[in-house]
Amino acid sequence: MTRGRFITFEGGEGAGKSTQVGRLMARLAPVLAGRGQGVIRTREPGGSRGAEIIRNLVVASDAENWSPVTETLLMYASRSDHLENTIRPALAAGDWVVCDRFADSSRAYQGAGGGVAPDFIEQMDRGVVGDDQPDLTLVFDLPVDVGLERAFGRGLFETRFESKGVEFHQRLREGFLRICEAHPQRCVRIDAAGTLEEVEARVWAAVEGRLL
Ligand SMILES: Nc1ncnc2c1ncn2[C@@H]1O[C@H](COP(=O)(O)OP(=O)(O)O)[C@@H](O)[C@H]1O
Ligand SMILES: [Mg+2]
Repeated sequence: MTRGRFITFEGGEGAGKSTQVGRLMARLAPVLAGRGQGVIRTREPGGSRGAEIIRNLVVASDAENWSPVTETLLMYASRSDHLENTIRPALAAGDWVVCDRFADSSRAYQGAGGGVAPDFIEQMDRGVVGDDQPDLTLVFDLPVDVGLERAFGRGLFETRFESKGVEFHQRLREGFLRICEAHPQRCVRIDAAGTLEEVEARVWAAVEGRLL
């Protein structure tokens, strides 16, 4: 059984990740079905029963409830359960996994945004994710004001990170771009400006070029 491929979507709020995960699923499913492979859609934090319980703890709480270090631990606890119960079983069965946010969000939000030491995050990543790194990470990049406007339009502006202020989101964007530069084998920067169709075409070009 050929192991499936693991694709993650990363980037700031309102960049269009969740919208484009749906569009990629629609294009990918028939192609993979033709090869006898499936594809699952999942997300972080969450994506398994235990991880969703942790997600509810984190997302439902006030922004200042936990320190960035504590948040990092909760995110990796959730990620560990997600890998064990959803991601690894699917990949082992030969199916592809498309995940809406993954470990780079910890690096960007808790690391670049929250000031958690990169070494601390990388040590945990080796222990929890280990060799199951994504095969391809699409980093959605958009000017901060455009992203926040989109997120605002969606009516979710009051949620934890979206309410943190422009400076935080600027650090976040720079953090994601640095991750892209540090992992060129794995990451592709996706220009998230433009129409839904234009962004969909950029995503498909990256997936087709790298994995199909
Ligand atoms: N290319 C685009 N142009 C204009 N609006 C978009 C585009 N992509 C997404 N949106 C809208 O922006 C909002 C945020 O999109 P979403 O996919 O939820 O972003 P994310 O998951 O990255 O936070 C949604 O209302 C969505 O319809
Ligand atoms: Mg989303």
